[in-house]
Amino acid sequence: MCGHCHIRIHITQLSLSLRIPLSMAAEAASPLPSNTFPSQPTKITSIKTLAESPGLTSIPATHTFPPDLHGQVTSVPEGSIPVIDYSLLISGTPGQRSKIVHELGRACQDWGFFMVINHGVPQKLLSSILDGCKGFFDLAEEEKQEFKGNHILDPIRFGTSFNVSVEKVFYWRDFLKVSVHPVFYSPTKPAGLSEISLEYSQRVREVARGLLKGISESLGLEGSYIDKALNLERGKQLFIANLYPTCPQPELAMGMPPHSDHGLLTLLIQNGIGGLQIQHKGKWVNVGTHPNSLLVNTGDHLEILSNGRYKSVLHRAMVNSKGTRISIAMVHGPSLDSVVSPAPELLVSSKGDEPAAYIGMKYKDYLELQQSNKLEGKACLDRARISAV
Ligand code: OGA
Ligand code: NI
Repeated sequence: MCGHCHIRIHITQLSLSLRIPLSMAAEAASPLPSNTFPSQPTKITSIKTLAESPGLTSIPATHTFPPDLHGQVTSVPEGSIPVIDYSLLISGTPGQRSKIVHELGRACQDWGFFMVINHGVPQKLLSSILDGCKGFFDLAEEEKQEFKGNHILDPIRFGTSFNVSVEKVFYWRDFLKVSVHPVFYSPTKPAGLSEISLEYSQRVREVARGLLKGISESLGLEGSYIDKALNLERGKQLFIANLYPTCPQPELAMGMPPHSDHGLLTLLIQNGIGGLQIQHKGKWVNVGTHPNSLLVNTGDHLEILSNGRYKSVLHRAMVNSKGTRISIAMVHGPSLDSVVSPAPELLVSSKGDEPAAYIGMKYKDYLELQQSNKLEGKACLDRARISAV
């Protein structure tokens, strides 16, 4: 043994200890139970990585909600959620069409939620867009981080939970949010995703506009009313892919908390695994899986435009221990520069004038407000509310 060796070891030890950041040194000092996620919450970049850690049997405190949070869930009798046959709205006889318009109005009023069948979006396209999103979430962590975005309104944003900068406990969810209209964006990876996403976005947008036409009529307005008033030709369309990995303790985790969506209508599809719940008459209702349907919910801007006739529906996403769930929510809103207020035509009637229940607000400002805060029920809409309706 020579003195050289000894010195070299010393230098290595010295440089090693210098490289350990202070926060890590502190962590090492306090023993952590196994399976505990790093103590710095802002370091969490994806739930997928955590969910896939070998031998994970419990979830860390960073993702644990009180067990009573989920509350009572009601099963509604099969067939009670409204079903809308889109083909009759588009190419039915006048009689069939007016019946569907009436059903749409009822669905918006009583549920804020309905399932659309015969929508014409090919089944193959639904499965390829779901596969494409799976491909995105399966990319390496560093590759996904290239798309993390910096600002709320960045056109492409990958992230976890909803808004980690303001949350204390995180949701069991990763997301990819992409603005697909009026300007189409897409992540460049995985190969093929952008082509499929473009086609899917266009087809779904078509259906959303058709539904909004019927909804306008159901309010007693011209079919093109919403389209024109909110400039849907340049309407904001937001593609949100959600990943809810298998969770070892689903009763303690939450995929997405109760919230309403900011747009007019959201059209959602999912892989074979359910988890969406909507609030109906004060109770949580399981939506289940409906492979060929588009699941539609009303958003805050339909509530504002209709002066509260059609309320945005509260909904949430549960997680489970049986498989990884992927959903794609496509939010359709006004153009970003539209100032939305209750339709004046709805404020006058033979029964006398009805006061506007919401202030006018620019959609872009509303969107920024909703996305930069915690996701909490209808807290954002409450800021636009003048009086209870
Ligand atoms: C959403 C949403 C529900 C779901 O993305 O806004 O409500 O089931 N998703 O993923
Ligand atoms: Ni939602």
